[in-house]
Amino acid sequence: MKLFVYHTPELTPTDLLPDCAVVIDVLRATTTIATALDAGAEAVHAFSNIEELIRQSNSWSTEKRLRAGERGGEKVEGFDLDNSPLACTPEVVKGKRLFLTTTNGTRALQRVEKSPQVITAAQINRRAAVNYLLETQPKTVWMVGSGWQGDYSVEDTACAGAIAQSIFQQSAVPQLELFGNDEVIGAISLYQQWQENLLNVFRLCSHGQRLLGLDGDEDLKYCSQTDILDILPIQREPGVLVKY
Ligand code: MLT
Repeated sequence: MKLFVYHTPELTPTDLLPDCAVVIDVLRATTTIATALDAGAEAVHAFSNIEELIRQSNSWSTEKRLRAGERGGEKVEGFDLDNSPLACTPEVVKGKRLFLTTTNGTRALQRVEKSPQVITAAQINRRAAVNYLLETQPKTVWMVGSGWQGDYSVEDTACAGAIAQSIFQQSAVPQLELFGNDEVIGAISLYQQWQENLLNVFRLCSHGQRLLGLDGDEDLKYCSQTDILDILPIQREPGVLVKY
């Protein structure tokens, strides 16, 4: 297995694809996707485009579908939910299809959706992502951070580092063989620096600050927890994620 980290969709190569893509948007899209599936949502349909989401969700009954999403961190007008993972309780999402659009996370997913295997990861389900990679042993793995409108986001790269560190610790593969680009080394160093203190760095970083401005401290606390859900979202068809 060879691991690569790309900080943003824009930095992700366009001329080839990995055997497995791991899409990461810790604040908050991939945390929300994992939480919704864990709470019993049937599937999450991810869209970067609001109009396309509305068009496709129209073919599902209102009892069966939930429209969720944000722009700039705030709920899209007329939608049922915003992008807070805390809204995805079993009472709200069980048995439903979540149609989700977000500023960056859904765009990152779209960037690699043609890869043979696509999973999503966040800090809360890191172990499930690691276990899947160790079990399936894809030859090339790209961990793609969502960033913010083309800029780097520290929380996504730290999560990529958490996954890479755990794979290194659990596999017998030498570092030289396992690490595909310098970003992997940087991501592991970043995670090692902040691993005991993820909430602190989430409160400092730019998207954390944006969410704090929207009263999002409870979201930051939730998203900063490690390995609390044993669930892995996997792409069943482009843009549609289900429980593995
Ligand atoms: C995104 O996709 O940019 C994020 O999930 C935004 C958010 O925190 O809702």
